[in-house]
Amino acid sequence: MNKRTIKDVALKGKRVFMRVDFNVPMKNGKVGEDTRIRGALPTIKYALEQGARLVLASHMGRPKGKRSPEFSLAPVADRLGELLGKKVPLAPDCVGPEVEAMVNNLKDGELLLLENVRFHAGETKNDPVLSDGFARLADVAVNDAFGTAHRAHSSNVGISERVKPAVAGLLMADEINYFNKAMTSPEHPVVAILGGAKVSTKINVIEALFGKVDKILIGGAMAFTFFKAKGFPVGKSLVEADMVDIAQKAMDKAASMGVQLILPVDAVAAAQMDAGAVTSVVNVDAMPDDLMGLDIGPKSVELFKQALVGVKTIVWNGPMGVFEMAPFASGTINLGKAVAASSALSVVGGGDTDAAVRAAGVADKISYISTGGGAFLELMEGKTLPGIAALDNA
Ligand code: 3PG
Repeated sequence: MNKRTIKDVALKGKRVFMRVDFNVPMKNGKVGEDTRIRGALPTIKYALEQGARLVLASHMGRPKGKRSPEFSLAPVADRLGELLGKKVPLAPDCVGPEVEAMVNNLKDGELLLLENVRFHAGETKNDPVLSDGFARLADVAVNDAFGTAHRAHSSNVGISERVKPAVAGLLMADEINYFNKAMTSPEHPVVAILGGAKVSTKINVIEALFGKVDKILIGGAMAFTFFKAKGFPVGKSLVEADMVDIAQKAMDKAASMGVQLILPVDAVAAAQMDAGAVTSVVNVDAMPDDLMGLDIGPKSVELFKQALVGVKTIVWNGPMGVFEMAPFASGTINLGKAVAASSALSVVGGGDTDAAVRAAGVADKISYISTGGGAFLELMEGKTLPGIAALDNA
């Protein structure tokens, strides 16, 4: 994954079609959380400073090929405008003669945000007609949308195949570099921390990690499927019955390959998942029938902290418990602090893990926080991401 970047190409006076991932959480019709918008700012500012005529394209949500006002990028145009300190015009659509005229009227250093590319059904099918429409807007293609790089759509793959040069933006380049450092050619020992609710969504990652990492720490509700495999009582904890054998095989494989697979030893348990629930700390081999594990317990936090001592690389995906609820947050928060305190290269991404390190107040002490959810997980699974593959090799 060594790709040409926006710094390798001339931009002055060029129509630069930049795919960004502005698929951000909305709240009351406004941008609720703007990390992804901020993530693209360095590339946007660089292109404008270089005198590009910048055309920004993104999806928002899953409108399934239909124009729907709730998926408009208008609130994003407003937020981006605030961040850039200038008005960001929003085109009424993302292709077609009117949009082409708007793009062709741009002057050097000006920008235009296209409306949601998923208002066209062709986008998610990588439809050649839609891709041709995007290509008519561009002299240079830039992809800064790491969060969408696991999709083969018209506005990332279709355009990159039609417009050359097709290069990575600065955010995309950072994502690739940090992933390479953490997973492709990492400094050992390497620890992977995996959490979240379901083993089924992580089993491909676990299998891909064998042979690459020295230790795997497993927390979150998915640990209970492993406990079930070990024959422990799990009470009302979430268990994926059809994954129990697979969890056992993963433990066997770890043992045969000399990878330490470390599970929690205690859990914060409650009768229901409720912010006001009465909690108790129980050992994982003694979960009462009427309780469920909702966070890792203090002994597990210590065990996991010990496992981080002396390591050189940490990759973390998935929270240790239901960290959004105060009674079940401390496992994730304390582990976040331990990761932040480590001198190891730490790369965090996927799912809620970025929100978890922000909740722990340690985001600025993590080496890199990926903007990718599904894209980060697929990279961890060892997959080639089509949005990256379509870019020019360095
Ligand atoms: C994401 O949020 O993971 C990306 O923006 C991709 O969105 P999608 O899962 O709807 O393709």
